[in-house]
This record gives sequence, structure tokens and C-alpha cells, in this order.
Amino acid sequence: MSEGGLTLERKLELLEEELRRAQRFAALGELASTTTHEFNNVLTTILNYAKLGLRHKDEATRDKAFTKILEASQRAEKIANGVLGMARNRGTERVPTDLAKLVEESLVLLEREMRKYRVQVELEILPAPLALVCGNQIQQVLLNLLTNARQAMPNGGRVTIRIAPDAAAGTVDFSVRDTGSGIPADQLPHIFDRYFTTKRGPDETGKGGTGVGLSMCREIIEQHQGRIRVESTVGVGTAFTLKLPVAPVETAASAAPLPTLGIPAAAPFATA
Ligand SMILES: Nc1ncnc2c1ncn2[C@@H]1O[C@H](COP(=O)(O)OP(=O)(O)OP(=O)(O)O)[C@@H](O)[C@H]1O
Ligand SMILES: [Mg+2]
Repeated sequence: MSEGGLTLERKLELLEEELRRAQRFAALGELASTTTHEFNNVLTTILNYAKLGLRHKDEATRDKAFTKILEASQRAEKIANGVLGMARNRGTERVPTDLAKLVEESLVLLEREMRKYRVQVELEILPAPLALVCGNQIQQVLLNLLTNARQAMPNGGRVTIRIAPDAAAGTVDFSVRDTGSGIPADQLPHIFDRYFTTKRGPDETGKGGTGVGLSMCREIIEQHQGRIRVESTVGVGTAFTLKLPVAPVETAASAAPLPTLGIPAAAPFATA
């Protein structure tokens, strides 16, 4: 069909598809630049302590230098794992996934930004079964929620990420809570609408203002047969909770090749 023959509705659909693709690329580009920065920091540390160790022959200084080099290398390993985690599951396949690990891998990429905006990140990780998710997509949801949280706290604050099992519902619950501005009651019903935004435009990190973030989160969660819920109080803060399906134990056990992908095969809990 020629472009002229497309209905307005179809054109809009195609444009939205295009926008989603562009957003995925933007996320990848951002990931590449954050990672490069973080790697550079780590390398600087390693270089400096290697020089220190070579200059000073006493055991105490050398021990200190080796310890610092080891710590920096472990951090580099974490960053690399985070990037590989995102890269290896670019599709939409859902596999048993350790959400705590996904959080850890995602945070290493946002640490610097959170520090810059004086946002303290707290973790409440309870023992939970593996979730049946596409890790890459859930990571995208998490990054969106964390960016929104950070933007709601222009003077800094605290964001709490909690993972807890809900055995009765057969879900793993995943929440992101901030101490930010909160959302006025009249806006709350609209925040998941595509293009709804109260932001003037991108902030100095280039994020925010298109009103696509939350609608994308909702789409992803719905594709997972999960639920996303929001609670907010103006002046106190906002909490988003995701309810994600637990991976059936059979799936976890039969998925023998998964350990090579870095995803644990055994679920710590049985499914209810
Ligand atoms: N944690 C939060 N605290 C306060 N308001 C929020 C929070 N999360 C979302 N909002 C409100 O919901 C609106 C929609 O959020 P959404 O992430 O969809 O779009 P956005 O952040 O404005 O732009 P982007 O497409 O770049 O994410 C925001 O503009 C903001 O008003
Ligand atoms: Mg957003």
C-alpha cells in the first residue's frame, strides 16, 4: 500500500512503533555512555593504585594497593555483567529470573546519576522465588521508574526498592518508592496515558518530558500478565508496585542450559 493510502490511525500506529524503537535505541545509547564513564573511573583507580604499589615497596602500602585494585576490578566485572544482562535478552522471551540480581545489575548503571542528584537508594530484598519475565524489559521498567522517582526529588531524597514474595497471589512483588513531590489526585488517573506529562521537557541528562515512560511500563507489565499499581501522597511521595508472575518450578528445573546465561536454575521457593 502506498503511504498516501494509509489511514490516519495506521500512520499513528506506525509512528508509535517507530517511537518505541527510538526509545529502545536511546536506552542502549545511554547505557553505552554510562558504562564508558564508569569503566573510565574504574580504570583510573586501578592505574593510580598500581603506580602507588610500584612506588612504595612496604608491605602495608602494597596490600592497600592490591585491595583497591581488586575492589575496582570487581566493580568492573559487575558493570560488564549488567551490560551483558541487557544485551543477551534483547528479545521478548520470558525466563525464570532473579529480580534481586536484575536490580543489582541495573543500579550499577544509575549509581553515578543518583549520587549527583543526592538520591539515596535503599534496598529491601526479601527471599523470593524467581519471576517468569523478560529481564531486559523489566530492567527497562525499573530504569523508567527510577528516573521518574529521581525527577520527582529535585532536592534529593530517598528511593526504596523492595522485592517480596506474595505466595497467595503467586507473584513476586517489586516496588519503587520515593520521597518526592507526589502526584495530585486529579492527575493520578492519567499518568499511564501515552503522552501525559507534567514535565516541560528533557532535564540536563536528556531524560523526561515525552510522557511515554509509564505507558511503556504498563504495556510491558500487561504483556507479562502482571499488574502495576500506584499509590501517591502529595508532599510525601509515590510508590509503584509491580506484581510479576512466579516462574513455575518445572520451568526452572527443565531449563538446564540457563546457568550458562548467568541465570540461576533453582527457585528458592516452590510455587503456591
Ligand atoms: N515518581 C513520581 N513522582 C511524581 N510524579 C510522577 C512520578 N512518576 C510519574 N509521575 C508523573 O507522571 C507523569 C508521566 O510519567 P511518564 O514517565 O509516563 O512520563 P515523563 O516522565 O513525563 O516522560 P518520559 O516519557 O520521558 O518518561 C510525569 O510527567 C509525572 O507528572
Ligand atoms: Mg518518565
